[in-house]
Amino acid sequence: MYKPKIGDTIDALDTPSILIDLPAMEANIARLMERLAASGKKVRPHLKTVKSPHLAQKLLDAGATGCCVAKVSEAEVMAQAGISDLLITSEVAGEVKIERLLNLASNYPDVKVVVDSEAGAIALNSAISNMTDPIKLKVLLELNVGQNRAGVAPGSEALHLAQCISSLRKLHLVGIQGYEGHLQHLANDERQRLCREAMNNLCDTAKLIRGEGIALEIVTTGGTGTAEICAQFEAITEVQPGSFVFMDVAYRNAIGTLYANALTVISTVISRPVPERAVIDAGLKSLSNDMGNAEVKNEPAASYRPGGDEHGILTYSASNTALAIGARVEMIPSHIDTTVNLFDTYYGIRNGVIEEIWPILARGKVQ
Ligand SMILES: Cc1ncc(COP(=O)(O)O)c(C=O)c1O
Repeated sequence: MYKPKIGDTIDALDTPSILIDLPAMEANIARLMERLAASGKKVRPHLKTVKSPHLAQKLLDAGATGCCVAKVSEAEVMAQAGISDLLITSEVAGEVKIERLLNLASNYPDVKVVVDSEAGAIALNSAISNMTDPIKLKVLLELNVGQNRAGVAPGSEALHLAQCISSLRKLHLVGIQGYEGHLQHLANDERQRLCREAMNNLCDTAKLIRGEGIALEIVTTGGTGTAEICAQFEAITEVQPGSFVFMDVAYRNAIGTLYANALTVISTVISRPVPERAVIDAGLKSLSNDMGNAEVKNEPAASYRPGGDEHGILTYSASNTALAIGARVEMIPSHIDTTVNLFDTYYGIRNGVIEEIWPILARGKVQ
């Protein structure tokens, strides 16, 4: 039976498989921690990228203080694996989900969640009041700092919501989140400028709320493209980047090679119908394309496009350089989060040898 094991070489792996270049990943983690250390800000990495408690633990060992997750189901996986200081960065709504959240928070009191409406806050408060053993849930107000996704408007609307949350007996308002996701992939100058504007909004609103006597312990923000800009603002207490661990083509194109591409999808050439085309076994079910196409590592003459769910097409400008049937290629994902979510297992590689095999325990955890 197919069962690659630690100590095998990469050749023992079937394809498509996810490879982590361990030295590159370790360097990315060390670099981010080192670059942010001078700012004195905490780092609460977003686990929506890595979706693995093993990697969460590595981030904590490297100096992270708590972690973020996007969904309750991700939080469940992490908490059960011992990663329990968690901020759920999306609003939780609906009876079923709220019950799931409260179950989790009953067992893991450092689970926190964002709230951006009075209705949302009241729903959480009422559900807690109906518990046999009511808890006090830690919540952060989510502010819209320009992404126009979720989040209450800065200024008086945010203050009003903060006052409402503070008046609810079962909720404990511990902070504010303002995530500028729309800026992460902008060119440097524009990213710097707009991020400063967004941070001014976040910091001013935090000040306004604090000025009304409401304590906000946490002011959290930032992704891989903006964390260092955000960290320059005094009122910010922590940043929450995620993609820096592995990087991807979209991020490399935006922020350069400060962090290395540390994850590839290894794939095999299965067909060479014409000289300038090689068909590989990685299509849309192995490489997401919501942020453009993946790139072929170390094959500059080839460009990739999906050829359907299971097929990928490499097009060669010079047909004589094309790979033979059975040859393997490493693909660099265009968007790391949506690609990782397609796989069950990470293979951590050092010097061509499998050193780690980690299940991607939170893959598919979208609830
Ligand atoms: C709320 C929030 N914080 C942080 C991040 C991490 O950003 P990145 O993966 O770009 O570093 C994300 C990513 O989508 C996010 O949604």
